[in-house]
Amino acid sequence: MVLSSAPPDAPARADRLVHRISELRRARNAVILAHNYQLPEVQDVADLVGDSLFLSREAARTAADVIVFCGVHFMAETAAILSPGRTVLLPDLEAGCSLAETITAEQLRLWKAEHPGAVVVSYVNTSAEVKAESDYCCTSSNAAAVVRGIPEDREILFCPDMFLGAHVERVTGRRMHVWMGECHVHAGIDAAALQATRRSHPDAELLVHPECGCTSSTLYRVGEGDLPGPACVVSSTEGMVRRAAESPARTFIVATEVGILHRMRQQSPDKTFLPAAESAVCPYMKRITLEKVARALERLEPRVTVPEAIAARARRALDRMVEITG
Ligand code: 13P
Ligand code: SF4
Repeated sequence: MVLSSAPPDAPARADRLVHRISELRRARNAVILAHNYQLPEVQDVADLVGDSLFLSREAARTAADVIVFCGVHFMAETAAILSPGRTVLLPDLEAGCSLAETITAEQLRLWKAEHPGAVVVSYVNTSAEVKAESDYCCTSSNAAAVVRGIPEDREILFCPDMFLGAHVERVTGRRMHVWMGECHVHAGIDAAALQATRRSHPDAELLVHPECGCTSSTLYRVGEGDLPGPACVVSSTEGMVRRAAESPARTFIVATEVGILHRMRQQSPDKTFLPAAESAVCPYMKRITLEKVARALERLEPRVTVPEAIAARARRALDRMVEITG
């Protein structure tokens, strides 16, 4: 006998919710944006699914009155900063980010005071207050390009992700001061387990997010020929999805949050996608459910707003990122 925890009318209930969300989306003139780590059913109801950079750009250019951000708090804040006239809804305000919490604006101010004249590059996974204290923002898809755009003779403070910082140093050859923050989900993806999976699937291509603690050791082992097989690609979530569709490989080991597997499998049903760690689940991303999306559209709550004095300074850092990387 197979025991299921889902109530027998669950599919019908999900259909009703999807229908209700579609009605409300029209009535509110809303757009639903979802990050690649969202639950499959939330990705499927969204108008657009993508990585942080793509979603920020879409939030900036949308003609909708309401943006329902199915992601985490710093992403909704970024949308509010880039789309000041719009109502930005985050269906659950508890959807935070352990990485963004590793640095506060006060800590950044103290760090800047220790390095007068240094250029501050902040990953988009930061609060609006931290962005306001920064010269440039970056995402995982453009961090190296942003750093390359900074004159060689300038000292750089990079925050908050130490693994992304190390990756940027590796690909640009620049030395930076890097904040020692990490994302608990990506830091938990174990290098030994990833490499063991590759050994048992030698034809599999490795797709690795630069927030992973295992990136450097895996690249090193691939470079040494210790993990023979197809390429190891380090990329943002969007780059990973694109690569999975375009690569000639048939099997992929995916080192990031497992929500991304849904899109990869939808795009390439004939390929095999293996998670590097089944346990790589972001509890914040998973707080967003269809029920909460429908409720947010009904009530136009919970809203995410950023005081204009902070938004104006944070926008400068985001605009500079766009000037460098387009
Ligand atoms: P991406 O910008 O690659 O989508 O990453 C965002 C994120 O939160 C990764 O954990
Ligand atoms: Fe933050 Fe990590 Fe979750 Fe991304 S996966 S939102 S960095 S806690």
